Amino acid sequence: MNFDSSLLQPGCRILEGGPELVDQAFHDLNRDMDPDLVHVFLDKLQRYAAKPDRALFLARHRDRYIAFASIIDHSPPPENVSESDSDILKKRACITGLMVLPEFRNKRVATALIHTMENWAMKNNRDGIWLITRQMADWYQRCFQYRMHATLFTKGVQKSLLTKPF
Ligand SMILES: CC(C)(COP(=O)(O)OP(=O)(O)OC[C@H]1O[C@@H](n2cnc3c(N)ncnc32)[C@H](O)[C@@H]1OP(=O)(O)O)[C@@H](O)C(=O)NCCC(=O)NCCS
Repeated sequence: MNFDSSLLQPGCRILEGGPELVDQAFHDLNRDMDPDLVHVFLDKLQRYAAKPDRALFLARHRDRYIAFASIIDHSPPPENVSESDSDILKKRACITGLMVLPEFRNKRVATALIHTMENWAMKNNRDGIWLITRQMADWYQRCFQYRMHATLFTKGVQKSLLTKPF
């Protein structure tokens, strides 16, 4: 589960984001976002950096932020999952965001962030992780051993619920 940070390119490191980092992280990371959703992203960074039941992880390359990931101890399970599935998800942490700036992709930054979040969840005594993704289900399964748990339809959009037990 440990990630060898020497596999990242020189000058790149992963850190946990506290409130003092949010302004710069927001500045560096919001540039490709839908302008109507930028305030949602800022609000998310602020909440994940400040609240004790969740974490914001940032990747930094030299003097700027190039990626973020967010995870929460307990997230309400989706409404349309069965009671038994819901019981499983309640014991697992939930990844709620992951994005690497395009020019830094394919350099193992997301891999480092996912390993960091998995370690965080273990330290918090969660017994696994879950997440919902629209397009990256194959990637999580192939590269990180997540399992397809269910297919969800929200407002006509198909999404995959993936889980990984520890
Ligand atoms: C998906 C994303 C997070 C990957 O970040 P990244 O830092 O490029 O990923 P890594 O370099 O750690 O890649 C790990 C592996 O996945 C592969 N990979 C990377 N992006 C991929 C993609 N879009 N499709 C398929 N494989 C991909 C890499 O080649 C690498 O494979 P390897 O270990 O065999 O060499 C990034 O492309 C991104 O931010 N996309 C937009 C937002 C998004 O989709 N977030 C996830 C939503 S849940």
